[in-house]
Amino acid sequence: MTDSIARPKSFSYTGPLRGDVRVPGDKSISHRALMFSALAVGKSTITGLLEGEDVLSTAAAMRAMGADIARGADGVWTVHGVGVGGLMQPDTALDMGNSGTSTRLLMGLVASHAIQATFIGDASLSKRPMGRVSDPLSQIGAEFISSPGGTLPLTVRGICPAVPISYRLPVASAQVKSAVLLAGLNTPGITEVIEPIPTRDHSERMLRGFGADLTVEVDADGVRTIRLVGEAELNPQNIDVPGDPSSAAFPIVAALITQGSEITVRNVGLNPTRSGIYKMLEAMGADLTYSNEREVGGEPVADITARHSALTGIEVPPEAAPSMIDEFPVFFVAASMAQGRTVTSGLDELRVKESDRLALMATGLTANGATVTEREDGLVIDGSGGAALAGGATIASALDHRIAMSFAIAAQNCRDAVTVDDVSPIATSFPTFEGMLEAFSAGR
Ligand code: S3P
Repeated sequence: MTDSIARPKSFSYTGPLRGDVRVPGDKSISHRALMFSALAVGKSTITGLLEGEDVLSTAAAMRAMGADIARGADGVWTVHGVGVGGLMQPDTALDMGNSGTSTRLLMGLVASHAIQATFIGDASLSKRPMGRVSDPLSQIGAEFISSPGGTLPLTVRGICPAVPISYRLPVASAQVKSAVLLAGLNTPGITEVIEPIPTRDHSERMLRGFGADLTVEVDADGVRTIRLVGEAELNPQNIDVPGDPSSAAFPIVAALITQGSEITVRNVGLNPTRSGIYKMLEAMGADLTYSNEREVGGEPVADITARHSALTGIEVPPEAAPSMIDEFPVFFVAASMAQGRTVTSGLDELRVKESDRLALMATGLTANGATVTEREDGLVIDGSGGAALAGGATIASALDHRIAMSFAIAAQNCRDAVTVDDVSPIATSFPTFEGMLEAFSAGR
């Protein structure tokens, strides 16, 4: 499996952050671009693909199931797909590394093909719940042999033809929604997903872009019903992946908490189902401006300029959680340096991400001098009012890239260096992160 050797690193104040930054391609969109291209008939190209470990796990799995995927010297990826229904049985177990998105979406794909695949992953992924995906996929007729607690290693025995289902999501999860929809691609009839709380809609947008017959109906209460006509034929596309708003949140929070900073992050995806962090930071008083607003690959995109700001604590409405679900770790860093109290709730899902993010952020921030109360479903943080925190602690990143990066950013406004016990997980989503921080230091 893919557990690597721990690489500890200390982070300290880099000086004011200035200049232009580019963040890598969106992770969610990159996974989907590879999967859907691999299911189209013919040649697709992808530019701006995130070349992080998670996405490379998806590429390797799609290759193992028959797609031809190559990276050109110019950084453009070319995919020759096998067609919906054309996936081949992989010879060996699919190693998903740290990637929950790869695992859950691919479980959906395999489920409606007459093939069997075993999924394995690192220690973090092997603890994460997969029952939320195998439950609906069992209803289409697929079979699962999982480890105790419904975790990896897990074998999916797919079925063809599968039975179309109508599934109401019991948790707000784009991964579960996407797994059911991807299974629906090779299922005769109409697969329906009912989504009471909206989550990221990249699958819906991109499937339509590939020519699938997919509709979304929103009722008066905001409940979304997504219908996909199965036995779809996907047409190859040329996809441009926008920059990842989840990655952009790290330099943006760094600029907000570091005196004298002003940075512009170029080409940031601003799909409304993903941009909650920016709305909440603005509600706290963040000075953010958006320019060059446009559309890239069917997604809204802009350049974001962030300046050092006096932030004030807020209460984050629980319904905002899905639109910033991956950004809470770095949001908690911003809150710990704001004036007054920030209250978050409805965040039970954070306990089953790459790590228990509520516990690790509460422990790590407290160890570095912040005032944090951990509740079952959120954190209450009394901020420092802009003053530097003590810092000086070593935090456990627990194979979680976003925990590691959040504390590297917190160090911007700590008196003493903050040590992360292992920064290697950062490569799963933001391989250029350390280089970006070094460039800020060099520009001091
Ligand atoms: C993702 C969905 C979210 C998010 C993850 C990526 C996706 O997970 O946390 O990083 O690409 O669909 P959940 O669906 O579990 O909320």
